[in-house]
Amino acid sequence: MSYRSRIKGIGAYLPPRVVTNAELSTMMETTNEWIVERTGIEERRWVEPGEGGSEMAAKASKEAMEKAGVEAKDIDMLIYATLSPDYNFPGGGVFTQRLLGLREIPCYDIRQQCTGFIYGLAMADAFIRSGLYKNILVIGSEVHSTGLDISTRGRDVAVLFGDGAGAVVVGRADDDKHLIMSTHLHADGAEAEILWTEAPASRNHPRITEADMAAGKHYPAMQGKKVFKHAVTRMPQAIMEGMIANGLKLDDVDMVIPHQANLRINQFVAKMIGLPEHKMHNNIQRTGNTTAATIPICMHEAIGLGKIKPGDLVCLVAFGAGLTWASAFLRY
Ligand SMILES: CC(C)(COP(=O)(O)OP(=O)(O)OC[C@H]1O[C@@H](n2cnc3c(N)ncnc32)[C@H](O)[C@@H]1OP(=O)(O)O)[C@@H](O)C(=O)NCCC(=O)NCCS
Repeated sequence: MSYRSRIKGIGAYLPPRVVTNAELSTMMETTNEWIVERTGIEERRWVEPGEGGSEMAAKASKEAMEKAGVEAKDIDMLIYATLSPDYNFPGGGVFTQRLLGLREIPCYDIRQQCTGFIYGLAMADAFIRSGLYKNILVIGSEVHSTGLDISTRGRDVAVLFGDGAGAVVVGRADDDKHLIMSTHLHADGAEAEILWTEAPASRNHPRITEADMAAGKHYPAMQGKKVFKHAVTRMPQAIMEGMIANGLKLDDVDMVIPHQANLRINQFVAKMIGLPEHKMHNNIQRTGNTTAATIPICMHEAIGLGKIKPGDLVCLVAFGAGLTWASAFLRY
């Protein structure tokens, strides 16, 4: 017996606190004009102190489960993609499991940063295809705001990121009208340090020192131009790879949901592959980059706006720290 998988339900959660570019410019030397011109971002959401990624994940998951028509008892596995778990260990998966009242099912925490959600989707697809599980929660959830250098020193990174969560229930497909068609995953560690957080590091003893903190090594550091170049090379490659594997033409694709790191990157990618503007949905203007949560949040919004309808052919594509990149093609 062979099985295929589909997305049965999707949910998203954004914390209520809106942080505009104008508010950021009271905390560091930056301007609304600089941020909008270089990135397209106008505002992002930040959690209130005390709200963790697992709480946001549970809220997004509840909506996804409701839409999928499944209850806590029906979930067979949980995959939680994040670079910002509530605690060092255990991972956010078990805290989300507890909040949702799930059975004693396997709970994975995976990394892969901005590509984490597609990596999770690929894992869920493989477990469903194997026949082992019927319903798998795949979650992306991130709290960036508590880990950014909110000062002029950190402004190149701090203005980019926001908090939020998205989740899907992946279940068995009954037909080929609603189906995960393909996933293609990649990584290359050759330039892992162009986007990373250096400390705390278990290879050092102690893992972090006062000098590390004074140097800001506990904040994410990025070589923006190199990351930009990686993104505009790898995303078109991942899209083309999926199109070839599925024998598709660009005309067959109804909507592309790209990772939301920079509006300019996504516009560049669309231009490179000749994709008309209306076939790509972007929401970075209002959310910033929410890393592993970005794709389900963006897809959830596109569905809400009627830009993705049941049966539509959707391409998800992402790149991120690692470096990692991936695509998924599906019939929603
Ligand atoms: C981050 C990014 C927008 C910066 O744009 P850029 O054109 O590369 O800008 P630079 O880093 O060269 O900086 C240009 C100038 O703006 C300054 N600057 C940086 N951040 C700033 C900010 N928030 N506000 C105002 N000025 C800023 C720099 O200090 C620099 O000043 P200088 O010319 O006096 O040295 C861009 O590199 C980018 O989007 N990269 C990819 C990021 C990404 O995708 N990250 C997530 C991966 S998942």
